[in-house]
Amino acid sequence: MLTRARRLRLDERVRNMTRETRLSKDSLIYPIFVEEGKDIRTDIVTMPGQKRYSIDTMGEELEAVSKAGVKNIMFFGAPAHKDECGSGAYHDHGIIQEALRAAKKDFPQLYYIGDVCMCEYTSHGHCGILKGDTVDNDKTLPLLAKTAVSQVKAGADMVAPSDMMDGRVLAIREALDEAGCEDIPIMSYAAKYASAFYGPFREAAGSDNFKGNRKTYQMDYHNRREALKEVFLDLEEGADIIMVKPALSYLDIIREIRDHIDVPVAAYSVSGEYAMIKAAAMAGMVEEDAIVAETTTSIFRAGADMLITYFAKEVAQMIQSGR
Ligand code: PBG
Ligand code: ZN
Repeated sequence: MLTRARRLRLDERVRNMTRETRLSKDSLIYPIFVEEGKDIRTDIVTMPGQKRYSIDTMGEELEAVSKAGVKNIMFFGAPAHKDECGSGAYHDHGIIQEALRAAKKDFPQLYYIGDVCMCEYTSHGHCGILKGDTVDNDKTLPLLAKTAVSQVKAGADMVAPSDMMDGRVLAIREALDEAGCEDIPIMSYAAKYASAFYGPFREAAGSDNFKGNRKTYQMDYHNRREALKEVFLDLEEGADIIMVKPALSYLDIIREIRDHIDVPVAAYSVSGEYAMIKAAAMAGMVEEDAIVAETTTSIFRAGADMLITYFAKEVAQMIQSGR
């Protein structure tokens, strides 16, 4: 036998030396939920280990995240007030805007990404202004643009539109440029599928009240070619980073995009992925650390350059300890 594959497997140092995928703390992004009020640390029941914080308590979590070596934060808001047009999303003193201001002041070493969408802020729970049963694409665009600008004014270093309206990247790019924020990058949720994996998030963000589903704007999970179409559209509109969401059931999409484009690709390992791993681990059915290491690595192996994950702190600790 000339070739013995096991030669490179017999010694741990050789295995580590010849690894094809290496994880870095720099590529982790941690999502945090903030709500209005004081002294709040509410456990999110569907996401064991995750909490909703108020602005005065979120520093505890930012501190822990920073200590773990995670440098990037994505904020989600659970506002007290909701209305038809989601005005809390673009209010200069909205929950996210205030959270960004406070975080930026107390933890300037962290990098802040604002999720731009309206579903947490609309009384009907959809990701834009309603027209009948569905979202009015073009009426929603200026509000998304306004949301992005207000987040950046409040301190966001990057914005990430997750609404899936057509033309939102261009609308946001133009509004940012007009506001003098031409250096702020846009991370576009380009291939975002209508997914049951978002269930726990909707409980966390209080956006589970909506009628129907999001299939008239989020993608159909039977489709792969369509992901490239969405990606190319967003790139033409000025997206700097392309995101695939969810991650684990969509590794083929991550690879497809990686093979076709040359901008950075982000993946979002969503709430349902987190909840499934937590539930199985808590039931003693799988070993949490090992499953987290393996699933996380698989997302990077598929081609992601960065990962938004609720396990960011744990993954950072694993990287630190050389796992
Ligand atoms: C808002 C938004 C959602 C998620 C991120 N941004 C929910 C949705 O589209 O219904 C899901 C994140 C997760 O499940 O962890 N549009
Ligand atoms: Zn939304």
